[in-house]
Amino acid sequence: MRAKSQIAGLPVYQPGKPIEEVKREFNLTEIIKLASNENPFGSSPKAVEAAKDACVNLAIYPDGAGFELRQKIAQFYDVEVGQVILGNGSDEIVQMICRTYLTPGSNTVMAEPTFPMYKINAVIEGADAIEVPLKEGVHDLDAMLQRIDSNTKVVWVCNPNNPSGTYNSAEEVESFLQKVPSDVLVVLDEAYYEYAYAKDYPESLPLLEKYPNLIILRTFSKIYGLAALRIGYGLASKEIIHLTNHVREPFNANRVAQSAAQAALDDQEYVQYCKEKNRQGLEQFYKAFDQMNLFYYPSQGNFILVDTGLPGNDVFQTLLRQGLIVRSGQALGFPTFVRITVGTEEQNEKMIQALRKIVGR
Ligand SMILES: Cc1ncc(COP(=O)(O)O)c(C=O)c1O
Repeated sequence: MRAKSQIAGLPVYQPGKPIEEVKREFNLTEIIKLASNENPFGSSPKAVEAAKDACVNLAIYPDGAGFELRQKIAQFYDVEVGQVILGNGSDEIVQMICRTYLTPGSNTVMAEPTFPMYKINAVIEGADAIEVPLKEGVHDLDAMLQRIDSNTKVVWVCNPNNPSGTYNSAEEVESFLQKVPSDVLVVLDEAYYEYAYAKDYPESLPLLEKYPNLIILRTFSKIYGLAALRIGYGLASKEIIHLTNHVREPFNANRVAQSAAQAALDDQEYVQYCKEKNRQGLEQFYKAFDQMNLFYYPSQGNFILVDTGLPGNDVFQTLLRQGLIVRSGQALGFPTFVRITVGTEEQNEKMIQALRKIVGR
């Protein structure tokens, strides 16, 4: 059996530890999972209703083209339907981009550390992943530009970046786009876009008109609280969407997800509520970490990367035994850090108290 040689060297993507698994392993009944940047407030009740209604038609394939949801997204952002593509999570759009653009011998430029699926999918396609270290926790866009060569097909900018929560400003992103060769695709992954509140965080939609080599990725998994349904989307020129559609699986966005996402998009009040709560939660963590004298990266997402000064895996394990799930920074390129998703006020408090005991401050 001769699998692609590059597969053997790839790490298998490690998701946050599932609640059920921790319950079983540690014989616990109460678990707080702040490990996968999910929405601690759940989904909009309107989206849940729509999901239930859609279950009446489970025997029928969904609309493969996802027209109604794409139309709703297009109206929401004032773009054309042909500029929207749906994915089984934005994960799948990352995969589709790699399938469309990357070949053996080509390369793709990304930050390091960043969201791991860019590299995993690029390597599967046989392309070289050129990783450019973050500078003080932020994408070093100038250094990334310098690594682009004639074999570069795709460049990834994760903004805000996972796992650091840091961001590049509107000015930085635009200046980068001006300099990237027009035949190189720029992927702006904005999975946490709705959480960002910095005044100079980019409003990227208008950039689509100016830069036909740009694709923006967003998702219903984060602030919209629909992670279980797997639904994300890409916004780009019609040409990019048309090309990417060639590699899309026939019914990639399922019926329940398409219905729930439409209702979720309509409930912007819920989005604003979650955004505000998240901001308060970040402040709660900042205050506690300042008191403990722990370094952290101020975040524009719904998670925070904090330096405990101890091996991340040990902190992760100690928290796990108490029923608190986080992500160790060790596998994320930050050996003494943990990444914590912002939870409810009560969940955050429990996490802070547990951390205080572990770091002894
Ligand atoms: C930066 C980033 N992009 C994409 C994704 C994938 O999200 P989904 O496939 O659930 O839309 C995630 C999930 O954590 C992420 O952090």
